[in-house]
Amino acid sequence: MPQEILRFEQVSKFFPGVVANDKVDLTIYKGEIHSLLGENGAGKSTLMNILYGLYKADGGQIYYEGRPVSILSPNDALKHGIGMIHQHFMLIPNFTVWENVTLGQKMEGSPVLPVTQLKQKVQEIAGQLHMNIDVNQLVGELSVGVQQKVEILKAIYRGARLLILDEPTSVLTPQESEELFVTLDRLKGDGCTIIFISHKLNEVMSISDRVSVLRDGHLIETRDKEGCTPAMMTALMVGRDVNLAIEKKPCIPGEVALEVRDLCAAGETHASTLKHISFQVRAGEIVGIAGVDGNGQGALSNAIAGIQKPESGTVLFRGEDVTAENVRRRNERKFSYIPADRRGEGLTLDFKLFENIALTQYYKEPCSKKGLLNFRGMRERAAAYMKDFNVKAPNTEAEARNLSGGNQQKLVLAREILKRPDILLVVQPTWGLDIGACEFVYQKIVEERDRGAAVLLISTDLEEVRNLSDRLLVLFEGQIMGEVDPAVARVEDIGQLMAGSQIQQ
Ligand SMILES: Nc1ncnc2c1ncn2[C@@H]1O[C@H](COP(=O)(O)OP(=O)(O)OP(=O)(O)O)[C@@H](O)[C@H]1O
Ligand SMILES: [Mg+2]
Repeated sequence: MPQEILRFEQVSKFFPGVVANDKVDLTIYKGEIHSLLGENGAGKSTLMNILYGLYKADGGQIYYEGRPVSILSPNDALKHGIGMIHQHFMLIPNFTVWENVTLGQKMEGSPVLPVTQLKQKVQEIAGQLHMNIDVNQLVGELSVGVQQKVEILKAIYRGARLLILDEPTSVLTPQESEELFVTLDRLKGDGCTIIFISHKLNEVMSISDRVSVLRDGHLIETRDKEGCTPAMMTALMVGRDVNLAIEKKPCIPGEVALEVRDLCAAGETHASTLKHISFQVRAGEIVGIAGVDGNGQGALSNAIAGIQKPESGTVLFRGEDVTAENVRRRNERKFSYIPADRRGEGLTLDFKLFENIALTQYYKEPCSKKGLLNFRGMRERAAAYMKDFNVKAPNTEAEARNLSGGNQQKLVLAREILKRPDILLVVQPTWGLDIGACEFVYQKIVEERDRGAAVLLISTDLEEVRNLSDRLLVLFEGQIMGEVDPAVARVEDIGQLMAGSQIQQ
């Protein structure tokens, strides 16, 4: 008989104008991996933030190991053995792994820090979890995947027996995701309980024991994974079928709209530094850039968007050299940019939604009139954009910070796509989007192509770039390894290019 470790009973949470959680009943078993599914804004993060003591519920009760508990802070949560791994890590880059893990933890009865002992203990736990980590390394030098492991280590070191992971794989490469799943399996083997949030159904299928679906703040159903199919989960979440296979007409390429010539641009590492890259994107086509994260995607998008000046080479918009132009000048050339990092580059989190919509066009009609800001125009435009892209928010006055992750992403997409650009640079467009929203965004990108926009799509999601692109380039260590026709190329061949070897004939 499965043993209950945690139970939500009629838990509700209200925000102004929003019922984020509506009388949620949910039972979690000891030692299971339980996935939470639901559309953007369904209330998944809110429910977990309540459990972790970041939000206070407005109604209902949480029971932990059969007893009612009141969790008022993350510290309280940890006292009960509940840990949470956030998407945005809370580590100190210039501290070592062991320092980060043990930070603020006292060792009983010892006036000086027993460094050797502490290190040993951290290394021991890492070993138990089969994590290949050097505890003496600085956290700032670690890849995102390893930093996430350090976060997990930190939670376990502090006594967590139940771990919450909110979209942990969205920042990981497929390889890193695999490693995370191995770690989660280990933890489960040691008797830990895991609550896992993801929009990627294949991940949910592969690691969960049970699955719960939230919709509009309600808990719709909890099911055993056995006997569940991705189609069933989608139907529960969205209430209809979703088709991610993109249907598009043959592409009719026009003039060259975007070109990079012999581009060299610095990245953070040798691998992510661009080395003499050249390619063209024509009006009316989608050119995809596939590749494992960290192979120059950042340097490439920065150079094209005008965020960082390249070391040499040229960026041309419709034949004109724009290499020295700033972001705003490029904007004026009907260029739109959807960055990978919506929280840093895409949005100003403290601004209201309508202000965010106006961010890249505040000086133009309808956001400005005769040189004066036109707030009514801004609000009307924002309302229309939000409606079109189905952004879930109380109104245009809400702060961007208070939107769910997926709805923040939709806001950036709406702003940049509905500008009707001639050149559209999209990086990781479906990051954090639910499956219905992915389908919608794919359609929108294809619509832009058919309207005549030149689209450059940079994505580490191979399925996504294969499905959307008309031509596909593969980026490896800052160089283009080759071009393939995504309609006929085999996944294994693209994979080979992504790993840096040429296709074997
Ligand atoms: N601090 C807050 N203030 C106001 N509204 C909030 C706040 N936090 C969340 N909300 C609202 O509560 C609802 C649920 O949001 P939540 O972040 O829980 O969704 P989610 O299921 O995690 O979605 P996603 O998949 O996009 O991350 C949303 O409508 C969101 O705008
Ligand atoms: Mg969320």
